[in-house]
Amino acid sequence: MDIVLTHVSKTFKASIGQRPVRALSGLCLEIRRGEVFGIIGRNGAGKSTTLKILMGFLRPDQGEVLLADRPPTDPAARNIVGFLPENPCLYDNLTAREHLEFALRVAGMSPRRERDRIDRALARVSLLEAADRPVRKYSKGMVQRAALAYALVHEPDILVLDEPMSGLDPLGRHLVVELIQEYHAEGHTILFSSHILTDVERMCDRIAILDQGQLKTTVTPDDLTGIADPAGRLSPLEHLFLSTIQTEGTPQP
Ligand SMILES: Nc1ncnc2c1ncn2[C@@H]1O[C@H](COP(=O)(O)OP(=O)(O)OP(=O)(O)O)[C@@H](O)[C@H]1O
Ligand SMILES: [Mg+2]
Repeated sequence: MDIVLTHVSKTFKASIGQRPVRALSGLCLEIRRGEVFGIIGRNGAGKSTTLKILMGFLRPDQGEVLLADRPPTDPAARNIVGFLPENPCLYDNLTAREHLEFALRVAGMSPRRERDRIDRALARVSLLEAADRPVRKYSKGMVQRAALAYALVHEPDILVLDEPMSGLDPLGRHLVVELIQEYHAEGHTILFSSHILTDVERMCDRIAILDQGQLKTTVTPDDLTGIADPAGRLSPLEHLFLSTIQTEGTPQP
């Protein structure tokens, strides 16, 4: 297994006048090597919290997390994983190429010797032409693509992407779908969250539906072929998603 979460729970402490938020309750997930795994769930379901815990940015209150058999805070685990955060934060004055050089240094590689990796990552996200412009001159979609290149420039075994299609135009979305499929074909493991169910349906080997911090169900594309919306308006995954979360209490803020 490349990724294992066992009975992971996380509650965010209350600020003054507010109640604590139980973001994850006993979440168990196992993601196999070479799998494309999608997490879907409404706003506030706990998707980003799960991914941040997996990356070691947040500590769970309970439960165990393993990335390729190592705890996420182990430096060896950090080098085999690449992460695209929900709100990527890049340096306005640096170019995409400079960001990627920095990412390689962080991964213990020499940017000078690994120029090929940088060009490969820039090409994967169609940013070769804009690579030497400062990020402040990028559109929102270009920033998202630069952040994606940052996540994968060291060519990690495991890619963890929090809403990779966010802010992208249809062309950019298509590019990310192709990138994930290509990265998958090279034998890597990809875990991502998304609200774009058609893309999730198209790309994933397995899909988890998370709601109110709990895993509601996990399905494969084969499972979806047996599901149909009685009204004929929704895709199988849309139908499953809505019927799963509509039976599960009130939405969170
Ligand atoms: N740092 C934090 N402090 C307090 N509460 C938080 C914090 N981060 C997340 N939460 C709460 O935890 C719950 C889960 O949030 P999370 O960001 O994981 O949801 P999500 O599934 O990623 O949602 P979205 O689709 O909107 O990105 C939410 O109720 C959110 O308000
Ligand atoms: Mg999120």
